[in-house]
Formats: sequence, structure tokens, C-alpha cells
Amino acid sequence: MKLLELDNLQVSIGPVQAVRDVSLSLAPGECRALVGESGCGKSVTAMSLLNLMPPTAQTNAARWDFAGRDMRQLSEREWRRIRGNEIAMIFQNPMTALDPTQTIGSQIAEPLRIHKGLSKREARMRAIALLERLAIANPAQRAAQYPFEFSGGMLQRAMIAMAVVCEPQLLIADEPTTALDVTVQAEVLSILRELRESSGTAMLFITHDLGVVAEIADSVSVMYAGQTVETGSLQDVFSREAHPYTQALKRAVPNMENPHRLEAIAGTPPDLRHPPKGCGFAARCCERMAICDQLPPNFPCESTAAHQARCWLWHPEHPARWRESEQ
Ligand SMILES: Nc1ncnc2c1ncn2[C@@H]1O[C@H](COP(=O)(O)OP(=O)(O)OP(=O)(O)O)[C@@H](O)[C@H]1O
Ligand code: SF4
Ligand SMILES: [Mg+2]
Repeated sequence: MKLLELDNLQVSIGPVQAVRDVSLSLAPGECRALVGESGCGKSVTAMSLLNLMPPTAQTNAARWDFAGRDMRQLSEREWRRIRGNEIAMIFQNPMTALDPTQTIGSQIAEPLRIHKGLSKREARMRAIALLERLAIANPAQRAAQYPFEFSGGMLQRAMIAMAVVCEPQLLIADEPTTALDVTVQAEVLSILRELRESSGTAMLFITHDLGVVAEIADSVSVMYAGQTVETGSLQDVFSREAHPYTQALKRAVPNMENPHRLEAIAGTPPDLRHPPKGCGFAARCCERMAICDQLPPNFPCESTAAHQARCWLWHPEHPARWRESEQ
């Protein structure tokens, strides 16, 4: 059974249609990467999954089930029991998530006291044990320090500790390694992988970095202009990429065969105040056809049923594909 099933999530913030159709699912223990260029709606999707969007945002979904519950029906009180407990988030910038006036230890311990009813002492001991597991030296002394006394990499680990302390069923990580140097980044990834193996936590991992995706994800959802445009396993999306946007994204990354070549995708994404009625990628797509003025649905691709692309090229009766199958 799936842990999360999200179908046709839409989020508008004033005139901006930030998320226009995001559909994704996660099985327990699965790690799904959510990729796409800046402004395509990844963080708005993440914040919506924790019901953290400002009240000015309008959120709708055709389906939004988590652990057997319809999340569209929850009260704010019920959300408070879920956030940081069943679903937790690692934010991109630790300084915005951490309180500068509270010690690191008390901030890590707080969710345990609120959600699990642990005593102050027990929660503190658990926080120290977790810091130790995250390779923080002298964890007891470190727990008594304030955020300004921590380096960037240590703050990131403190924030991971805060997010995972209650062993959530779903961890949303919004660019958790972008601000870190390569060594700390590798360390953080291995910590997340280990936590996932030990507690079976499912992860939605948002990143720009396709190298990181290849290292950590089982499945990938590619977003463009507020929509998921390609979904599949890591192999489907990276070895048999089906959507012209995913193909362009992959070409933009230097690879083993072509280590120095970085091909920028020509053009800019559409203005989400006036998104196009047809395919969102049409203005930048070199395979554009007349039918692309109409919004493409998600079509299954050839490799597996779970591999889907929102592109008319994958219409089962697309003439080019008729020709291919005749050969
Ligand atoms: N609070 C807000 N008020 C108004 N517009 C917003 C707000 N938050 C996000 N947006 C808009 O929604 C769209 C999606 O933004 P989002 O932050 O989700 O992008 P992103 O994919 O996370 O980008 P990045 O990779 O740069 O983090 C953007 O056009 C952004 O300007
Ligand atoms: S639907 Fe058309 S414009 Fe959009 S990605 Fe596919 S071929 Fe390109
Ligand atoms: Mg973002």
C-alpha cells in the first residue's frame, strides 16, 4: 500500500498558479526525488504537503491520502499532531528553521516532549544520542550550545536531527545539501540513507543536483512550470528519459562522456501568472507540434507502467511512434 497518494495538487498564491498539477505517490521507505528548474513549484509542493502555505494560498487536490487518511479534511489541530511527528521537513536554510534563542539540544528535544510525551530529561538524552549518531563530537556539550556556535554543516545536521527525532513516516527534504561543501554533502547523504534504512522513513528529496538524485533516489518526478511532466523509477527517468524537458535537463549536466559540456536550455519558463493553456514546455521545445497547443495528459511510456510523460509524443497513436513500431 502507498504511504502518500497525491493527485492533481493545485496551489495558487494570489495571481500566481505556482502548482498547476502535481501528482505523485510514495511507498513506505521509498525515496522520490523531485527535480526541476528554479521557480517550477518544488518548495510550494513541499510546504503544501505540510499544510504550511500562507492563508492567502488556495490549495486543491483531487486526491491527497497519507497513511490511509484524507489530508484535505484535517483541522489545524490535527495538522499540529502530524507535523514534525508523522511528516517532517528539512528546510533549505537551517537558520530560518532554528530558533537563535534556544539551545540546539532543547530544539531537538522539543518534538519528543510535544508528540511523544517524554520527560525533559529523557528527551534531552535522546537528543544527545541522536547528535552523536550524526557524528557531532562532544554531543552533550554541543547540545547546550546555541545555533550561532555551530558551523553550517553542523547546523544542517542539527536540523536533520530535529526532523528525524520522532522517526517520521515521511521526511521532506528541500535542497538539504545545496548550501554545503562536497565533503559535508556526502556525509549528510549517507546519514539520510542510514536513517531511511534503520527506520523505513519514506523521503521526498528536492534537489537541483542530478548527481545527488542518482545517489539517493529510487524514483524521480520531474516538474516543469507547476506540473509533474515525467515520473518513473530512477532508471526510467535517467536512462530512458521520455519528456523533451527531462532530455534537455540531462543534456545541461556535464556527464562522464562529456565532462565539460554544459548545454543551457534555451528560453525561460512561462510566467505562472498567465500559464499557457497547452503544453507548458512548448515555447522551448524543439519537437513542438500543432497538437501541443492543447494540454497533454500523462501518457505511459514504453518501459514500465509507472513511467509516464506529459507529452503528446507519447500518445499511443502518435504518427512517429506508429512508424517506429512498424519497423
Ligand atoms: N509566498 C509566495 N507568494 C507569492 N508567490 C510565491 C510564494 N512562494 C512561491 N511563490 C511563487 O511560486 C512559484 C514556485 O515557487 P517555488 O518556491 O515553489 O519554486 P522552486 O521550484 O522551489 O524554486 P527553487 O528551485 O528556486 O527553490 C514561483 O513563481 C514563486 O515566485
Ligand atoms: S507536448 Fe509537444 S511541446 Fe510539449 S514537450 Fe511534448 S512535443 Fe514538446
Ligand atoms: Mg525551492
